[in-house]
Amino acid sequence: MTIALAATTAAPAEPVTAGPAEPAARVLTGDRPTGRLHLGHYFGTLANRVRLQKGGADLFVVIADFQVLTDRDVADDLPRYVEELLLDYLAVGIDPDRATIFTHSSVPALNQLLLPFLSLVSVAELRRNPTVKDEINHSRQSSVSGLMFTYPAHQAADILFCKAGLVPVGQDQLPHLEITRTIARRFNDRYPATGSPVFPEPEALLSAAPLLLGTDGTKMSKSRDNAISLAADADETARLIRGAKTDADRHITYDPERRPEVASLLLLASLCLDREPAVLAEEIGSGGAAALKRCVTEAVNGFLAPIRARRAELARDPGHLRAVLRAGNERADAVAEATLDEVRAAMSSRY
Ligand code: TRP
Repeated sequence: MTIALAATTAAPAEPVTAGPAEPAARVLTGDRPTGRLHLGHYFGTLANRVRLQKGGADLFVVIADFQVLTDRDVADDLPRYVEELLLDYLAVGIDPDRATIFTHSSVPALNQLLLPFLSLVSVAELRRNPTVKDEINHSRQSSVSGLMFTYPAHQAADILFCKAGLVPVGQDQLPHLEITRTIARRFNDRYPATGSPVFPEPEALLSAAPLLLGTDGTKMSKSRDNAISLAADADETARLIRGAKTDADRHITYDPERRPEVASLLLLASLCLDREPAVLAEEIGSGGAAALKRCVTEAVNGFLAPIRARRAELARDPGHLRAVLRAGNERADAVAEATLDEVRAAMSSRY
């Protein structure tokens, strides 16, 4: 599979800018509603989405509410998490007038694609999916549900229902994209349509930003309690960064190999300030960890201030949030119905 790399900040190269005569490139991505998004999400994928949208892409964002049920028995607080996710999307600048933000439980025709798709993958293929294996190991369930096992095929339905050509994701999602491509290819081979094949084979778009570490030096993740969420306030952010792991060397240098924790803090500041991490390290020099953390805290709080203000304002208008989701669900539903109709035609099952 070809994997494109995208810069997270405003980059000159726009891979999907639509030309005047072409229809806008369709991009789909999404998240599970399990809590607030954090800076790792921002620099890993959210910034890319906004950039792609500004470049003219027709952006679809799935709030994967069924997928939440793959690793837990009850999805408590799901409506609140859906709202939190929507707030994060809108606060970072996804424009709901142009993007289609939807919950996949609200789009029946999308879910119906799962049945023909499941007939196109083998149990062995599902079983060897490394991301599913990893999720089973971290699952909060005592046994593996059928939904957990089949969710890469469901994710293929998320992507293919709208015929997305580009899918901005993190590295861990690549196996799902590979299955999506396999399903698209097999469907097209098995059920040749008159005219062009029903499904495109979508490409992954990985962020070019290196992975951000959490404040404990491991991968930033909300379940590890080491993440700075976009919605956190300035004091909480300062407290988290003050407690971040560094090392014994007082002189600050940018050395990702040998000093991963210090390097990740520098990287975070550099992403927020749009400056080189090595230059920041030089400026801090013998100021030590305290000066480094002051610099990072200021950079993060300065960067997030407008996002947080916008988020707080949006949170005061739940009616607007419901309207955004309703409009997104309606549009996704129409697109999914049209695709399902093509699928039925290709499978000769339009009765
Ligand atoms: N599995 C993704 C995650 O855990 C969320 C997701 C659901 C998704 N459907 C998708 C991502 C389709 C990209 C495309 O983050």
